[in-house]
Amino acid sequence: MQTVETYNDKVVRQFTIATVVWGVVGMLVGLFIAAQLAWPALNFDIAWLSYGRLRPLHTNAVIFAFGGSGLFATSYYVVQRTSHVRLFSDRLAAFTFWGWQAVIVAAAVTLPMGLTQSHEYAELIWPIDILITLVWVAYAVVFFGTIAKRRVRHIFVANWFFGAYILTIAVLHIFNNLQVPVSWTESYPVYSGAVDAMVQWWYGHNAVGFFLTAGFLGIMYYYVPKQAQRPIYSYRLSVVHFWALISIYMWAGPHHLHYTALPDWAQSLGMVFSLILLAPSWGGMINGMMTLSGAWHKLRTDPILKFMIVSLSFYGMSTFEGPMMSIKTVNALSHYTDWTIGHVHSGALGWVAFITIGAVYSMLPKLFGRERMHSVKAIDAHFWIATIGIVLYITAMWIAGVMQGLMWRATNPDGTLTYTFIESVRQTYPYYVTRFVGGLMFLSGMLIMVWNVWKTCLPARDLPVARIPAPAHA
Ligand code: HEM
Ligand code: HEM
Repeated sequence: MQTVETYNDKVVRQFTIATVVWGVVGMLVGLFIAAQLAWPALNFDIAWLSYGRLRPLHTNAVIFAFGGSGLFATSYYVVQRTSHVRLFSDRLAAFTFWGWQAVIVAAAVTLPMGLTQSHEYAELIWPIDILITLVWVAYAVVFFGTIAKRRVRHIFVANWFFGAYILTIAVLHIFNNLQVPVSWTESYPVYSGAVDAMVQWWYGHNAVGFFLTAGFLGIMYYYVPKQAQRPIYSYRLSVVHFWALISIYMWAGPHHLHYTALPDWAQSLGMVFSLILLAPSWGGMINGMMTLSGAWHKLRTDPILKFMIVSLSFYGMSTFEGPMMSIKTVNALSHYTDWTIGHVHSGALGWVAFITIGAVYSMLPKLFGRERMHSVKAIDAHFWIATIGIVLYITAMWIAGVMQGLMWRATNPDGTLTYTFIESVRQTYPYYVTRFVGGLMFLSGMLIMVWNVWKTCLPARDLPVARIPAPAHA
């Protein structure tokens, strides 16, 4: 009897649901710390509820649990469908799912306990780092193993972006976490001083470039054409985009260390590469947007496309703002202020979260054997409430940031400071409340999504089995 070959969608379904769940959890923590900044008494004098412990919980949860699960789900979905083969190994794929969930739970326990390596976005202690390494190696084997056994000669461009993100994150994670353990929970970095800072921001910036950007560009190159039912605007541009982006990102890290003990030439190098980075970033954004040529009318009826196109607009906006902020004189004003937080969230909420949400809405019905999501109206409601939420969040932070920067540098004719620091904090209060409202709206949108996902998945008793197309020249 001839057996029918199928895709491994079980692990995709698991990661997709995890994306939604961790999105809500991570953003809830974000909302809570946003509330603490406006009303500090909300830490209730309990150590594990304090801002310093919950902030890294928020960043780890949204980046690695929400964003990470989204990237696992989409990369497994895309690599199978564009290679016409099942994942390289079901067992290893299952290990990546349960291993990654274990990492997330370990983070959720250790960070509120105050156990940290004190490197931003690399806070997790060394035993968890080792687990991450094991999961990541398994991920690379599953992904590249699937590419290796593909039945389609060409490697679709989305897979190049996913591949670059997987390889680069492995290198970054290992080198930035080289530590000498002194107990089960404590360790010391092998680097010190300015070298430690440089390695940390080489890691930090490329975590933005490869985790929060390259991986999500992989999502864009598959899901935008699929949803618009149009080919990529220029496939040639997508290849140029890929090579330009990955070769330039690597050098931009020092813009996080302007006016520090880092050698001046390194700071200038970081600035110049950040400015050049505008070109490939916008090339990619335009390529994604123009994929809708001839299909713009679909935006009127398809809220999933709205999520995707608005995410590209935010990508364009944050990759214009970033190079501007990397100019040393601009950074002299923006650094340490809430302007940075506004920039981060226009990228994180506008670009990363929106493209992920769009991809989840696009593939979830297919994964659960439904024609479409339970309620298209609810997707539209989610889109609008989330968009207004982002606008409130980032405009509040821009105004607050510029105000703080100007207040801190204002001097009187005799050279003394015009404002005390606490005056700038007092002036920031209304903007923190506005940010809280924006965040609340974004989270409310996620709750609408949870309801819609629940209603879409629940009736599916017999999960669909997606068959692999027969080889063209069988
Ligand atoms: C409801 C949604 C969200 C709210 C209310 C929120 C709120 C916050 C707050 C209050 C901070 C601390 C800011 C500070 O220290 O001054 C923060 C930091 C941060 N958040 Fe969010 N956040 C949300 C969603 C997200 C998402 C989805 C991502 C990523 C995909 C993200 C990534 C980050 C990052 C990377 C930082 C650290 C920024 C830095 O150190 O400069 N956030 N967030
Ligand atoms: C061309 C692209 C980009 C450039 C050149 C750029 C540049 C910058 C600069 C100059 C800073 C401020 C550094 C400081 O003063 O400390 C910054 C911070 C940041 N950017 Fe971007 N950015 C870009 C795109 C993005 C995107 C798309 C995202 C998110 C998806 C993002 C996420 C962040 C984060 C999380 C930080 C805060 C890091 C920290 O201090 O914790 N950036 N970026």
